[in-house]
Amino acid sequence: MSSPAYRPLPPATYFAPAKLNLDLRVGAPRADGFHPIRSWFVTVGLFDRLDFSPADDIRLTCSDPTIPVDGRNLVVRAAEALRPGDGRGVLIHLEKSIPAGGGLGGGSSDAATTLLALNEFWKLGLPIDRLHDIAATLGSDVPFFLHGPSSLCEGRGDVVTPVPPPGCGQALLVLPGLHMPTPAVFKRLDELRPTVPDFAHGTVVVGGAGALALLPGLSNDLETPAFDLRPELAELRQEIEGIVARPVRMSGSGSTLFTLYDTDAEAQAAQTVVTQKTGMRCVVAGICPGPRHGSLQ
Ligand code: C5P
Repeated sequence: MSSPAYRPLPPATYFAPAKLNLDLRVGAPRADGFHPIRSWFVTVGLFDRLDFSPADDIRLTCSDPTIPVDGRNLVVRAAEALRPGDGRGVLIHLEKSIPAGGGLGGGSSDAATTLLALNEFWKLGLPIDRLHDIAATLGSDVPFFLHGPSSLCEGRGDVVTPVPPPGCGQALLVLPGLHMPTPAVFKRLDELRPTVPDFAHGTVVVGGAGALALLPGLSNDLETPAFDLRPELAELRQEIEGIVARPVRMSGSGSTLFTLYDTDAEAQAAQTVVTQKTGMRCVVAGICPGPRHGSLQ
């Protein structure tokens, strides 16, 4: 039974943005098996949509039948972690647009959005620090999505410091449809560089420069192991770099490849030609889009 003071809100819609790791440096594994990272995360304008409506228990439905809707889904685990012990429930419908296993943080963003949404929907009033602690128990990338939109993430990803957004406004995302298992990519990294000192590849880049000034300085330590596991991804990167005549990077543990543009017109033109020549799904997404959390519809 719900407490007498609690009145469920009307159904609410929230949007969960994808992320890009503009820059990602990875250290040697820690005693707990996680790798220390330093990474510049930004949100990008590709959104999953979550609809919340009152229910007696916690239930999830999803537009993608391949995604589990039980306790394996971070959305369900986020809801369970927040649920007060007075019988409040929620029905959540998840409309997926962010591909799973693409290095775009879709599942983590869905979980963080669920924490933010249910904190309002259930009128819990928890401070962001408390939500951050819960987010960190759900996954390394989840806390970023509570803060965003441009942050330096350290520790295993859960130590989040806001930094100024880049000076360029648009990202071209190339989605090869390959599902990259994150643990396997980190494991391959350790196999390929067993003795490398922490952060041997230098200091993470953050800053407000435009696309062409920024791109050459960006790097991702997970590219080498991901390309070793899936050589076709390395070939695709090379092909796209030839088409767009600028550096192309991988996000997270892959498989999404991206490059940056200052204007929407440039990004749209590149999308057309890359789609034509590679046959891959390409998306133009704004970098650090305005917050769409909490938009009641
Ligand atoms: O934290 P999360 O559950 O997203 O991590 C998934 C896996 O990715 C971990 O089990 C680990 O193998 C790897 N990982 C890592 N170092 C990180 C983040 C993730 O080794 N900083």
